Amino acid sequence: MAIATISTINETRERLDAVRASGRSVGFVPTMGFLHDGHASLMRAARSQNDVVVASIFVNPLQFAANEDLSDYPRDLDRDTDLAERSGVDLLFVPSVEEMYPHGPVLTTVTVDDISSRFEGATRPTHFAGVATVVSKLFNISGPARAYFGEKDFQQLAVIRRMVSDLSIPIEVVGCPIVREADGLAMSSRNTYLSPEQRAAAPVLRRALDAGVAAIDNGEVRPAEVVRIMTTIVEAESHAQLDYAAAVDAATLVEPDTLSGEVRLLIAAQVGRPRLIDNAGTSIETTT
Ligand code: PAJ
Repeated sequence: MAIATISTINETRERLDAVRASGRSVGFVPTMGFLHDGHASLMRAARSQNDVVVASIFVNPLQFAANEDLSDYPRDLDRDTDLAERSGVDLLFVPSVEEMYPHGPVLTTVTVDDISSRFEGATRPTHFAGVATVVSKLFNISGPARAYFGEKDFQQLAVIRRMVSDLSIPIEVVGCPIVREADGLAMSSRNTYLSPEQRAAAPVLRRALDAGVAAIDNGEVRPAEVVRIMTTIVEAESHAQLDYAAAVDAATLVEPDTLSGEVRLLIAAQVGRPRLIDNAGTSIETTT
């Protein structure tokens, strides 16, 4: 089936209601476009697990602060449509800002306390409220579905899982692994901002994560020591300014006194214009 592009909330609702009424399942992949293989991996996962796949492309103004890159966020709808079609998407929902926010600034927002305040939230205090608000709006438009999100944005995934649980939203959230370039850099639409030298330096985040995971796998359980190892590696790269490195509980994103169970290492650094984020997981077997 050729992909259909839809720009209105009503038509998206009508089509997806009809899908469910005929007993078929809906897979939903929300994006901001300028799609790459990371997005495609979510679309392929949705394709393999559902009867109909809908993806959205909407550069959501609410999640950008005034000093951020809203106006020049990269866009290429023709290329995106082609990639989405090849990845198994049936319906592409591409609303305008007026369609999504007809009254201008919204008066109703969704905030997920606590999880939203650390790490990305410390640098971007309004970001996760913008994400939670648009994603809850998108879920209200899609209706019941499986929704696919990348572990690339690990904190975003935690925020959305908590929001869905707290508000009993009829959505099953599916987390998907990080897709990387051959040299280890996590794919991101913002990698396009990197100069050749910065692009060459960017895999330092992955190297730092690998070293942190290796330390834990070799028995290190002190978060501060894991953070020190990651920090030393990033600080040796002159193109990268470390924002944060952390070793946290994978479910709560809280740094424990002693690492145990499912652990996630989180890292963010400014590399030239873009702030890059990445993460990696490992687990510590607890003997009882
Ligand atoms: P965007 O940055 O376009 O990402 C859309 C989805 O693709 C997110 O779930 C993100 O985690 C996933 N993704 C991005 N790069 C990935 C990679 N290298 N590997 C695996 N998955 C990857 O995240 C957003 O848009 C927005 O905040 C959104 C949720 C759409 C709300 O506006």
